[in-house]
Amino acid sequence: MTEAEDPDVVSRRIAKESLDQDDPTGWFEQLYSAASEGAAVVPWDRGTAHPLLSEWVDEAQPDGSGKTALIVGAGTGWDAELVADLGYQTTAFDISASAIETAHRNHPDSKAQYVVADLFNPPAEWHRAFDLVVEIYTVQALPISLQPAAIKQITEQVGPGGTLLVIAVARPDDEPDEEVEGPPWPLTRAALDSFTTPDLHLIQLIQSPSPVDPTINRWRAEYLRD
Ligand SMILES: C[S@@+](CC[C@H](N)C(=O)[O-])C[C@H]1O[C@@H](n2cnc3c(N)ncnc32)[C@H](O)[C@@H]1O
Repeated sequence: MTEAEDPDVVSRRIAKESLDQDDPTGWFEQLYSAASEGAAVVPWDRGTAHPLLSEWVDEAQPDGSGKTALIVGAGTGWDAELVADLGYQTTAFDISASAIETAHRNHPDSKAQYVVADLFNPPAEWHRAFDLVVEIYTVQALPISLQPAAIKQITEQVGPGGTLLVIAVARPDDEPDEEVEGPPWPLTRAALDSFTTPDLHLIQLIQSPSPVDPTINRWRAEYLRD
């Protein structure tokens, strides 16, 4: 298989060039922009909501009427659409303008609001403003040194009584940081614990194998703010 045919290889090459230039987030825009011109494929773009988000929705049956939701690193919008359809007034953001343009194109009649924003510098009005915050695969797409700051920012957007749902690929706690050749840099159990604060509690943690590759485990973690 040539590099042009393997989206993982293409995205890793784009990521490596960006990371080598000390620009850990610049590659997302390059990848989405190349994909919108047909020159690359976004490997995580499923064309549907993440199955573990759908599973959580089926189990928790959340009613979003009169509530707000924030979708972190929303990409092209498939998770945001599911959440908006539950009745949440949904804000979905991504650092990549091309991802947000593609989200608008994919979902022209969307009830969600799609915006370009940086998790490391979010709008002040988002602080503790959301009843539901959904984070899928954004933290693990960032180098390990940036993950604590990203995790802190995600938790800061959860409002009183609000829920945070985190979906991530799992990494064994005994696998040293230096041995992870990201992206992605999957999350340890300790990283999952670091989303908690004195008033933001981990209330459910499930690990399940990927149906595509059973050697890969995924976390589904739910947190609740007092
Ligand atoms: C691996 S992708 C996952 C996308 C989507 N959540 C999903 O599961 O399909 C990570 C996403 O996070 C976005 N992202 C990375 N760093 C970000 C930041 N600092 N602020 C906002 N979005 C960011 C990327 O552009 C990309 O869309």
